[in-house]
Amino acid sequence: PKLIVVNRAGEETAVDVADGLTVMEAIRDNGFDELLALCGGCCSCATCHVHVDPAFKDKLPPMSEDEDDLLESSDHRDENSRLGCQVPFTPDLDGLKVTIAQED
Ligand code: FES
Repeated sequence: PKLIVVNRAGEETAVDVADGLTVMEAIRDNGFDELLALCGGCCSCATCHVHVDPAFKDKLPPMSEDEDDLLESSDHRDENSRLGCQVPFTPDLDGLKVTIAQED
């Protein structure tokens, strides 16, 4: 399945994602170093903040309270904000577009 990543400059790149990765890992492992993912996916840093295509909203797992709290600390949160490490990239998300959030 493919994930479409939009970097902070607005450039789109489609990447192939192996099974079992989260959106954060898929972005990081494809060399997008603007996605820091400092905590390595423990839901404690919020540097994996992305905006997801609203068309896929219903297919995403619900947000935990921890994720919600962390996103609240960002100045760039909007209704499509998620932490990439909290979203497993499952095959039904093929074609999902995510935009790396601006730096806080
Ligand atoms: Fe730290 Fe997602 S990588 S919260």
